[in-house]
Amino acid sequence: MAGRSGKVTVVGAGFYGSTTAQRLAEYDVFDTVVLTDIVEGKPEGLALDMNQSRPIEGFETRVVGATTTVDGGGYEATAGSDIVVITAGLPRKPGMSRMDLIETNARIVRGVAENLAIHSPEAVIIVVSNPLDEMTALTQLASGFPKQRVLGQAGMLDTARFTYFVAEALAVEVGTVRTLTLGSHGDTMVPVPSRCTVGGQPLSDLMPAERIDELVTRTRNGGAEVVALLKTGSAYYAPSAAAARMAKAVATDSGAIMPVCAWVDGEYGISGVYLGVEAEIGSVGVRRVVETDLTESELAGLREAAEAVRAKQADIQSL
Ligand code: LAC
Repeated sequence: MAGRSGKVTVVGAGFYGSTTAQRLAEYDVFDTVVLTDIVEGKPEGLALDMNQSRPIEGFETRVVGATTTVDGGGYEATAGSDIVVITAGLPRKPGMSRMDLIETNARIVRGVAENLAIHSPEAVIIVVSNPLDEMTALTQLASGFPKQRVLGQAGMLDTARFTYFVAEALAVEVGTVRTLTLGSHGDTMVPVPSRCTVGGQPLSDLMPAERIDELVTRTRNGGAEVVALLKTGSAYYAPSAAAARMAKAVATDSGAIMPVCAWVDGEYGISGVYLGVEAEIGSVGVRRVVETDLTESELAGLREAAEAVRAKQADIQSL
């Protein structure tokens, strides 16, 4: 394939990071995918394994593994990245909320963002570490990057979960269902039923309100449901699909409108906070936040999410 170019780094070679790296490599649009981790040898081993899959899957993107240290060792391998996906940090254990990870992951993510910024000063950073909205805000602070160049992955995942649940409930193809979630990647997630359609028909015409509410609740708890089943670690197939698609949208300057965690500056009457909204994605990161028509109660939910996230984002400055 012609036109393979650019370098994308995935920080963290756990399941989320390694599956993201694999998906990015298999797109065959990048010159190089770099995978890093602080566990010595793990990223190199996974990179070797992925490279050995290239003749079978037929992609030419090179995968490079690099062990890094908390004081910045090994980050040379990431130098000049166009895009970075940060998956570093601990996942939840059963019974934990994403917010329970905030102190530990803030320390890890801050260090990672500082080291990345030194070596890839022009990169677009996509954050997936939890708690997502707070780690995205922290990454922007620690990197010092313009706000449009730092965004978080959550809405793509939450929306995909909602879509899947609707498709399953109605026994229709996932491709016929459109859903939307905004707000935070957590308790104040705001599923937007008024924007949900199945084959172009409003979801509310096809399902009673109580059933929609059940699917909304299941969506809000979508991550915890997987964590409870796995018992160790959290979801990674759907999360990595979401993160990789966002990275591809940046790499190809696609202009796709995606639900992401982005800096909101006046949209919906909300300012000065990283929040789940729809945004147009391109090589600059977030080209613009796209406002959508919301019902009164959806808008109220979004404003409530903004205030909850704002309070926590203020806390992380000291972490
Ligand atoms: C989830 C984690 C990755 O929602 O936040 O599965």
